[in-house]
Amino acid sequence: MMPGHGDAPAAGSAQDHREQKPARRLAVLISGRGSNLKALIDACADGRVNGRIVLVISNRPEAPGLAYARDAGIPYSVIDHRRYTDREAFDRALGDTLDEHQPDLIVLAGFMRVLTAGFVARFVDRMVNIHPSLLPEFRGLHTHDRALAAGVEHHGASVHFVTAELDGGPVIIQARVPVCPGDSPETLAARVQAAEHRLYPAAVGLICSGRIHASGDTLWCDEEPLQQPLLLDPAPESTQPCAGTT
Ligand code: GRF
Repeated sequence: MMPGHGDAPAAGSAQDHREQKPARRLAVLISGRGSNLKALIDACADGRVNGRIVLVISNRPEAPGLAYARDAGIPYSVIDHRRYTDREAFDRALGDTLDEHQPDLIVLAGFMRVLTAGFVARFVDRMVNIHPSLLPEFRGLHTHDRALAAGVEHHGASVHFVTAELDGGPVIIQARVPVCPGDSPETLAARVQAAEHRLYPAAVGLICSGRIHASGDTLWCDEEPLQQPLLLDPAPESTQPCAGTT
């Protein structure tokens, strides 16, 4: 049966496929804190993702997330965008470094650079991003403030393949969280980020197991077109919306 919204493949299914395939080579791109990188490192280590992170790249030398790569013994590299005259030159250097490590999948995890169309084309169908909203709602920045201002009841995060359209590529899977009375952008962000740390490993796990792949704007799940994003099972704490808030 074709999975649809609210019908995400079970976590164990990815492991069934894992036995048949070698670990996929992952490159993770960060700019800052790196909490999603950490979640992916843990998921590769404990077998939830049949992948091996072969390279972490930050465009910022001071990114705290680089410490996660270092502590896990993962090769990492800084490509400081400020040292390049324009976006094309930076993206060329980034692409050349990635190619040296032959990643099967490039994982943008809080990578705060807009990529050129040429770079996106170079890695078409091989690059995913996590965005802190239920796309297509709230593309771009400041999603938590905008969700609160809009008065939505649910907010969340989405993992999508990257296309030339900013935050516009096909969405693989989403995590929903409630917006609670009294939420500030910070409390809402914390709730979304906790969900992201389950969501990104789930999405990358589906790709690494071969269950999900992209072909341009079309997503395939178990060899059938995916008509709408999968939905991550809610965490136990969010099945009682807004418990503990006033
Ligand atoms: C996440 O909220 C992600 O959705 C957005 O950037 C943030 C990165 O956080 N793209 P971290 O660096 O992984 O902690």
